[in-house]
Amino acid sequence: MYSSNQCAYTINASFYFTLCFFVIAGSAHVLPTSCGTLTIIKPTFVNRNVTLKFLPRHGWISNIVWKYALERDVRHKTLKGLEGHVRQIVHHGPYYDTMLLFADRSYNNSRYHIECTNVMMITRSNTVKLHLHDGPVVDIAEELNVEEGRNVSFRCKHSHGNPPQESSVVWTRALNNQHQSTVTFFAVGSGYKESVTKAENDTVILVCVVKSNPKAEISITKGNDILEVKENGSHLTHTIASLSCLDAGLYSCTSAN
Ligand SMILES: *[C@@H]1O[C@H](CO)[C@@H](O)[C@H](O)[C@H]1NC(C)=O
Ligand SMILES: *[C@@H]1O[C@H](CO)[C@@H](O)[C@H](O)[C@H]1NC(C)=O
Ligand SMILES: *[C@@H]1O[C@H](CO)[C@@H](O)[C@H](O)[C@H]1NC(C)=O
Ligand SMILES: *[C@@H]1O[C@H](CO)[C@@H](O)[C@H](O)[C@H]1NC(C)=O
Ligand SMILES: *[C@@H]1O[C@H](CO)[C@@H](O)[C@H](O)[C@H]1NC(C)=O
Repeated sequence: MYSSNQCAYTINASFYFTLCFFVIAGSAHVLPTSCGTLTIIKPTFVNRNVTLKFLPRHGWISNIVWKYALERDVRHKTLKGLEGHVRQIVHHGPYYDTMLLFADRSYNNSRYHIECTNVMMITRSNTVKLHLHDGPVVDIAEELNVEEGRNVSFRCKHSHGNPPQESSVVWTRALNNQHQSTVTFFAVGSGYKESVTKAENDTVILVCVVKSNPKAEISITKGNDILEVKENGSHLTHTIASLSCLDAGLYSCTSAN
């Protein structure tokens, strides 16, 4: 320690006070040895999970408490995290502990450290500060109706996150091969004939099968009369329980998607 005489002797009074302040503050920081290294695993986005990683200085440091303070908090609170802290054992390597937390906007600029306790004393890790970034926002039409054989263009409106160099745009395609619906089969019973003759009082079943993606609306009609309709279908049947001469005519099956 400097004595006041020495300070006064070498430098003027106001500078002396500044100098002594630094000496005291500096020595307080050196006191306990840090019990390990705390880091934040990047990237760190708003409304995403953030992982903190603590590498203890010694393998036997196990009594640790995670502490945090939000930007405006003065005192540190104990951090619980999403899954509690997890100790990972790396093969032939050191131990480390991780902590997972969900970081909404209020966690921006929050501070973290670890308190290590043993019978002798409490030591701390370094303090880390969490800087949150805004993720990119993407706006793309969810559904487009396009006819088969036509060109289609997609637009992806997006704003880069912050910082911009950490975001990129990637197009992906889910394989969902859409096509127009077609009627692949329409007949009385299971065998196809252009024209079918049936006796009075017979029962007939008209069967219509459609190939379509997405599923089609199918209808069986006789002239202008709609006899049967099904949405989201791939096949449709219509039964006439007992034929009469009034049932004679032209039946058709149509589909649309
Ligand atoms: C965050 O982690 C929890 C626990 O593992 C998980 O259930 C949740 O889906 C994660 N949330 C996000 C946004 O990744
Ligand atoms: C977090 O705080 C910093 C400094 O105040 C600011 O620059 C940054 O934009 C903030 N992040 C978010 C996601 O608001
Ligand atoms: C689709 O786009 C290509 C390239 O611009 C063009 O050559 C082609 O004629 C277009 N086809 C149709 C059906 O518009
Ligand atoms: C059809 O049914 C009606 C009423 O049951 C009956 O009168 C008629 O004779 C039947 N026709 C034939 C061809 O069996
Ligand atoms: C048809 O299927 C779509 C998608 O699965 C669904 O949104 C719609 O409600 C269905 N329509 C009917 C009438 O079931």
